[in-house]
Amino acid sequence: MFNGNGNLQDALNIHDLRKMAKKRLPKWLFEFVDRGTEDEVALRNNRAAFERIKLKTQVLVDVSARNQEVTLFGKKHGMPMGIAPTGPAGMMYYKGELELARAAKAANIPFTLATGSQTSMEEVSKMVGGTLWFQLYMWSDVRMSHLLVERAKNAGFEALVVTVDGPVGTNREYNIRNGYTVPFSYNRKNTAAVLVRPGWLFGVLMKYWMTGGMPTRANYPEGFAEKFTQVSSAERKTKNDSLSWDDLGVLRDMWPGKLLVKGILTPRDAERAIARGADGVIVSNHGGRNFDSSMAPIEALAPIVDAVGNRTTVIVDSGFRRGSDVVKALAIGAKLVMVGRATLWGTTVAGEAGATRAINIYREEISRTIAYLGCRTIPELNRECLEHVPTPHIPLTM
Ligand SMILES: Cc1cc2nc3c(=O)[nH]c(=O)nc-3n(C[C@H](O)[C@H](O)[C@H](O)COP(=O)(O)O)c2cc1C
Repeated sequence: MFNGNGNLQDALNIHDLRKMAKKRLPKWLFEFVDRGTEDEVALRNNRAAFERIKLKTQVLVDVSARNQEVTLFGKKHGMPMGIAPTGPAGMMYYKGELELARAAKAANIPFTLATGSQTSMEEVSKMVGGTLWFQLYMWSDVRMSHLLVERAKNAGFEALVVTVDGPVGTNREYNIRNGYTVPFSYNRKNTAAVLVRPGWLFGVLMKYWMTGGMPTRANYPEGFAEKFTQVSSAERKTKNDSLSWDDLGVLRDMWPGKLLVKGILTPRDAERAIARGADGVIVSNHGGRNFDSSMAPIEALAPIVDAVGNRTTVIVDSGFRRGSDVVKALAIGAKLVMVGRATLWGTTVAGEAGATRAINIYREEISRTIAYLGCRTIPELNRECLEHVPTPHIPLTM
């Protein structure tokens, strides 16, 4: 397929998709998605941690009938992956959330819609369906959070993913340097960056302009769904450094579906999530975007699985770029791996087809990796596949 950036099949791996996306997006938007925070130590360490893990091969096993199906919360999925919530998916591609959701549905994997998305949860549910999870930022104005929870319930979302790893804003200095401000305001730098990306200007921004104006945070309750260019009155009410585990307990009482807590990095917090009724935890450092001194989730995973893995579903994300990374996490004991940037790059390049390309790349790489390990199915993966079980360099204390 020709997409203006060459043939999609020329993307042999996720890094190629990233390079293609870089050519399409204004610099401030590309960096907002691609980069980390402060000195980007966490971002680099997320990748370095995977490189330190080695897998044990097994030879002369008949692995001709390989299968990637997994069962999660009683439901069968096509492969052990899901799409993580990312606020600006609809800025990568016009209504990018629909493209991602379609790719996820076709692959039979979960898609998580972010609170801050540009397409509403009702539209995603009505237009696409599939296994839909809704990500909630807990706001200190509980009324706003609870309105969203009610809507997600009515729209048929199966899981509520409560993100807890951002008590305060993060420190992304590059945003300031390259002219990206929240709320967004036009300046010489960011306008110039848009003008040299006409494909994005006409294919994404102009399409929104022609269908109602600047993109909005479409899930924000009525009266709060301001445009990107406005100071959000919702955000003024969403200061969340006062939240506690009790707030999660309230959500548990309201939400009849699966409740997942995203942004857990220690067994201590995983225990607290279970105590408040969570059905699962997502071990994540937000892709290295929030706290630069955070542990790599792949190294935080084993102690959490050991502590709570028999009582809850442990999911992981952050830094997964290869199928072998996914296999490493599954061998440690995760039940599902989620990706944020990888499928965003695919969507940027070619909408649903691009997101599908990203998913297919992982699928092929997982298939190849498990063959080398002498495994046919995902449940066969275990710690015997690992040369050593990765743990944080400094042991966790409870
Ligand atoms: C551009 C961008 C926006 C994101 N927005 C959200 C969000 O709104 N809510 C959330 O819980 N996580 C958000 N995340 C974090 C992802 O859900 C996920 O934890 C992270 O991307 C995983 O790392 P990876 O990108 O290396 O796969 C965002 C990540 C990116 C890259």
